[in-house]
Amino acid sequence: MKIVNIASIPGDGVGREVVPEAERVLKAIAELHGGLTFEFTSFPWSCEYYLENGSMMPEDGLEQIKDFDSIFLGAVGNQRLVPDHISLWGLLIKIRREFEQVINVRPAKLIKGINSPLSNPKDFDLLVVRENSEGEYSSIGGRIYNEDEELAIQNAVFSRRGTERAMRYAFELAKTRRGHVTSATKSNGIVYSMPFWDDVFKEISKDYPSVEVDSQHIDALAAFFVTQPERFDVIVASNLFGDILTDIGAAIMGSIGIAPAANININGKYPSMFEPVHGSAPDIIGKGIANPIGQIWTAKMMLDHHGETELGDHLLDSIEEVTSRGIRTPDIGGTSSTTEVTSEIIKTLLR
Ligand code: NAD
Ligand code: IPM
Ligand code: MN
Repeated sequence: MKIVNIASIPGDGVGREVVPEAERVLKAIAELHGGLTFEFTSFPWSCEYYLENGSMMPEDGLEQIKDFDSIFLGAVGNQRLVPDHISLWGLLIKIRREFEQVINVRPAKLIKGINSPLSNPKDFDLLVVRENSEGEYSSIGGRIYNEDEELAIQNAVFSRRGTERAMRYAFELAKTRRGHVTSATKSNGIVYSMPFWDDVFKEISKDYPSVEVDSQHIDALAAFFVTQPERFDVIVASNLFGDILTDIGAAIMGSIGIAPAANININGKYPSMFEPVHGSAPDIIGKGIANPIGQIWTAKMMLDHHGETELGDHLLDSIEEVTSRGIRTPDIGGTSSTTEVTSEIIKTLLR
C-alpha cells in the first residue's frame, strides 16, 4: 500500500470551499487505484487564525509540516481581517521560501467544454515556469518619510543560481514537450536584472541544442498570450512576470477558477506545495459557486508529482467530460454548484 501524507491548508475564502472538494476527488482516485491511500492532516492556518493567535501559523508551523509528502493549499488572504502583505508573507510566501519551492509550474490549455473568451482560439497548450523564490518579490527596500518627501524603494534580486535553475527547469520540461522555450524579458526598460536574465538565458540555451528558443519582452508576450497563445510551449519568467502571465493564461482558458499550479522543491529536502492560481475570491465566498476545477486540476499535478500520471490524466479527462456535458459553475457560464461539479467529476472518474 502506497500512503501519501498530505498537509492540507484550506486557508481563507473559497480555499475552504474547494479544498475539501478536491480531497473528496483524491479519495475517490485512491479507491480506483486500490493500492494507494491519501492521508490528509488539516491545518487551520488562515487570517482568522491570525486574529486569534497573532500569527498566520504557529512558531513551529514549518516544523509541523516539513515531513509530509506534499502540501495542498487553497488560498490565503482576507483583507478585511489582515493586510495582504502580512497574511501572504506569513504563510504562502513563507512556505515557498523556507521549503525552497523555487519553481512554480503553471499550465494553461484549452479545456473541452469551457469557452475561452478568445473568439476563435486555436488549440493552445502552454506551460509557464515561474521563478518562485526571488526576483521582484524581495524584502530588500524600505519606505522613507521626511518633511518634503516620501519614498518607497523596492529592490529586485536576480541571482545566477536562481535564474539558472529556473531556466534549466524550463529547458528540461521543453525536452519532454514540443521543444521550445520562450524567455520573458524586459531588457529594453529594466537595465540591470533583465540584461542579466538575457545573458543567462543565452548561455543556458547552449546546453540544450535540441530546444528552440525565443525571447519576448513581457509586454508583447502578454499581448501574444491573447492573440496567439498557440505559438507557445514552455515560457520561463521571473517571479512577477510569471505571476501576471499565469492570470492571463487562466483568463484565456475561460476562468481564473480553473488554473492549477505546483510549487516545486527541486532538491528533495522539503515537500512541494500544490495550490491553484486563484486567490480567496472574496466576492463569491459562501455562495457555493466557487469553481472547484482549479483545485482539482491542482490535485492532478500532485498525483503526477507522486508518479501517478495515469491517474492524473484520467482525472483531467474526467474534468473535461463533465464540463463538456455542460456541468459548470457560473464563472464558466453554467448554473451548477461547487459540490455538483465535484460530484459529477467523481462519478465520471469511477465509471
Ligand atoms: P482572486 O483570484 O481571489 O479573485 C479574482 C476574481 O476571480 C474574482 O472575481 C473571483 O471571484 C474570481 N475567482 C477566483 N477563484 C475563483 C473560483 N475558484 N471560482 C470562480 N471564480 C473565482 O484574486 P484577488 O481578488 O486579487 O485576491 C483576493 C485575495 O486572495 C487577496 O487577499 C489576495 O492577496 C489573495 N490571493 C491569494 C492567492 C493564493 O493564496 N495563492 C492567490 C491570489 C490572490
Ligand atoms: C499567486 C498569488 C501570490 C503571488 C500572491 C497572493 C502573493 O498571486 O500565487 O499567484 O503573487 O505569488
Ligand atoms: Mn497570482
